[in-house]
Amino acid sequence: MQPISTRRFLQIAGLSAAAFLLAACGKKEEAPAPAPVASAPAPAPAKVYVVGTDAAYAPFESQNEKGEIVGFDIEVVQAIATKAGIEVKFVNTPWEGIFNALGQGDRDMVASAVTITDERKQTMDFSAPYFDAQQLIAVKEGSKVAKFTDLKKLKVGVQTGTTGDEAVTQLLGKASTSIKRFESTPLALKELESGGVDAVVADNGVVIHYVANNPGGKFKTVADKEFVPEQYGIALKKGNTELLEKLNTGLASIRADGTYDRIFAKYFGAPPAAAPAAAASK
Ligand code: ARG
Repeated sequence: MQPISTRRFLQIAGLSAAAFLLAACGKKEEAPAPAPVASAPAPAPAKVYVVGTDAAYAPFESQNEKGEIVGFDIEVVQAIATKAGIEVKFVNTPWEGIFNALGQGDRDMVASAVTITDERKQTMDFSAPYFDAQQLIAVKEGSKVAKFTDLKKLKVGVQTGTTGDEAVTQLLGKASTSIKRFESTPLALKELESGGVDAVVADNGVVIHYVANNPGGKFKTVADKEFVPEQYGIALKKGNTELLEKLNTGLASIRADGTYDRIFAKYFGAPPAAAPAAAASK
């Protein structure tokens, strides 16, 4: 064996020391080293809760020019999280599969204008309701549609798997070929604009927002009191009571201190309770 120079020895020793340090660092991520005796235990790195949202649903969730996810739901959930002392991160998630992602633990919550329904409650938990909604019909300006049942003989666009889809499926029948299902609500409304469908049924807030922002589409909306009132909640994996309690406490506190009303007014013009009076005085 060649004798090894002191310099070479130090080099090798240095390298293996570095390798050892690296290995130690790598390990640290999996299992934090025990805190030194007599000092307080190091705080565990804060968990970041991943919130799934289908960000093609303005004004509730959409992507701005910078690609950031913005909207009413985003601000409400962010405000709740701040009160609850938790960190959240929003991840754009297609509506189809959004509840699977929740069930599989890929998302900790779904905040996506999700209507609380008895059927969904069997497979997931919901926060207290944070928004009232109802289905609304969008048609072209000249349309004769005056009520929901007028859609019976027409081609109707919906977003797959939404409560709008459920309502239309009930009216036209499961086997109906007149229901055109789209992966997003804006896509269904584009199809209405181009004449591929005669009507779209979707959440009122989104339809009103789309119609207002697309005057060239020459749409009008038709309300029908027969649509059952809906309420949005934040969906959680079944049994995640700890997080559920945090969210509900946070929601109660943003309702109590005016934060909720401020966010509501930013998106919908007036705080919910004062809405009818304010609208009348405009
Ligand atoms: N509220 C309706 C439902 O729960 C539609 C929600 C769709 N949300 C969305 N971000 N695309 O079925």
